[in-house]
Amino acid sequence: MSATRRRPLVSGNWKMHKDHLETIHACSELGLRLGRDESAAVDVSIHPPFTDLRSAQSVIEAEGVPVSLGAQNCASADSGAFTGEVSAVMLARLRVEYVIVGHSERRAMFGEDDEVVAAKLRAVFRNGMVPICCVGEDAAERDAGQTADRLQAQVRAAIGDLPGGDVARMVIAYEPVWAIGAGEPATPDDAQQAAATIRSEVAEVAGAPAAAGLRILYGGSVGPDSAVPLASVSDIDGLLVGGASLDPGAFTEIVKGVATTLR
Ligand code: 13P
Repeated sequence: MSATRRRPLVSGNWKMHKDHLETIHACSELGLRLGRDESAAVDVSIHPPFTDLRSAQSVIEAEGVPVSLGAQNCASADSGAFTGEVSAVMLARLRVEYVIVGHSERRAMFGEDDEVVAAKLRAVFRNGMVPICCVGEDAAERDAGQTADRLQAQVRAAIGDLPGGDVARMVIAYEPVWAIGAGEPATPDDAQQAAATIRSEVAEVAGAPAAAGLRILYGGSVGPDSAVPLASVSDIDGLLVGGASLDPGAFTEIVKGVATTLR
């Protein structure tokens, strides 16, 4: 199903790390380290905390840093009495291009179910940005042999009745919960099998062209050593990097590895 290579994407999810001053430094450093060769071959996004986005935008634009701005979450509504929330409208105004929705930490710790994730995904599209929708099984589901069932259910709930053209543009990140922050990623074979399951479910729900266009990332304990083998399997189109993305040196190494391998 993956005859043609999709353009790779390497995204850094900074989670709740770095204040806006640290973000300014990190963005500048990425600008010094990332060259034209990488940006010609790979899309790169960074996802700092909300309070850092304006600072990151300024540095990226002023210094021509070859990365797209990303967010980690958004509200499902565009405005209203939702204390503490940040809307997709606001993110789009900051020229955010990618928004992560349905990260397992939000599903597990902040009660986001499939319905909430689907509503957020639609808010991202409504405001002209690209959602990176996270799916993945936890350790108990894996041990019970339920990985495929879990992935299919999450994918179906997320993309539901979306037009195929939207699905083709979006990104799904396969993030097995048991691999996040564990220090040990899934094997490339396991990641490929999960990604193939995701892609065939997308084909069933949204049609073959959507499945052929959609990018699938792997996330969970990716580091400079595991990046290339994981990104090289046929149904994986890039990486969603947590801890290693906090260090501009390690993140650049990951981006360069993917750029060199998949160019
Ligand atoms: P780690 O790379 O730190 O395991 O985090 C993965 C992740 O959750 C990215 O969204």
